[in-house]
Amino acid sequence: MYLEEMFGLKGKVAVITGGGQGIGQTVAVGLAKAGAQVVIVCRSGADETIKLVEAAGGTAYFVRCDVTDESSVNAAVNEIIERSGKIDILFNNAGACYHKKAIVLDGEDLGGLNDGEATVEEWRAILDVNLTGEYIMAVAVARTMIEKNIKGSIINMASMSGSIVNIPQCQASYNASKAGVIHMTKSLAIEWANYGIRVNSISPGYVGTPMSQPPFVHQELLDAWNPLFPLHRMAAPEELMPAILYLASPAAGYTTGTDVIVDGAYCCV
Ligand SMILES: NC(=O)c1ccc[n+]([C@@H]2O[C@H](COP(=O)([O-])OP(=O)(O)OC[C@H]3O[C@@H](n4cnc5c(N)ncnc54)[C@H](O)[C@@H]3O)[C@@H](O)[C@H]2O)c1
Repeated sequence: MYLEEMFGLKGKVAVITGGGQGIGQTVAVGLAKAGAQVVIVCRSGADETIKLVEAAGGTAYFVRCDVTDESSVNAAVNEIIERSGKIDILFNNAGACYHKKAIVLDGEDLGGLNDGEATVEEWRAILDVNLTGEYIMAVAVARTMIEKNIKGSIINMASMSGSIVNIPQCQASYNASKAGVIHMTKSLAIEWANYGIRVNSISPGYVGTPMSQPPFVHQELLDAWNPLFPLHRMAAPEELMPAILYLASPAAGYTTGTDVIVDGAYCCV
């Protein structure tokens, strides 16, 4: 009973962006198991996530949305309000990354670690999804929370890359975007504190998802990462769930404006 009061999400509506696969999919199932109705917001379908949520005894539906497009986000949020009446929790998770150097010299051997030289358009595209997309989504959801007097929880997906610089791959745009997420989180936490809306971020280390596996990551890079993990492995997506459940739940009533690092001590090295 005590744990249910602290961590239970019965009657809550939880929106998860990028929930069709990877961390978002695992978190959708976890929040549903805690009692929340789950809404999967992503660009393509989320059939597999919905099946997994239902198999776990929960309920979920899918709303199509590109988080970089303000009108798409507003339409998605309006649809959720029409169908569910409110939003209590936002897991602002959609994100993207590439491994490219800022400068590649003629004839330089990239050794399978990087995929060439980044263009300014590619830099902008990463900032657009990871930072501006989370901002657009957070603002649209917080507006409904304020209108409906919902003391909600917004959890922004950052990364340990917002605090340290990963090696040996180059990903300046990703690192900068995630550092931006951490400080945007603190800024919005202060701005919305008077409304009782809590805003926190989570910063995982490497997590075993499509983003950190072949073909997105070359075998040479995986081999280079392996000796760098203090716990000798990446995290499983499920290992983020306790921190996310905490931030989403009444247990975190006095926790806002913080970044929770779940990195197996990677940032300590
Ligand atoms: N996997 C890791 O090692 C790791 C570590 C730290 C942080 N993260 C962060 O966790 C989040 C989820 O990553 P993941 O590992 O599950 O990767 P993933 O590639 O499996 O999932 C990312 C999801 O975001 C969606 N997405 C991308 N652009 C979008 C857009 N414009 N609109 C809507 N949806 C969009 C994708 O379709 C996908 O479903 C990302 O923000 C990522 O930066 C991942």
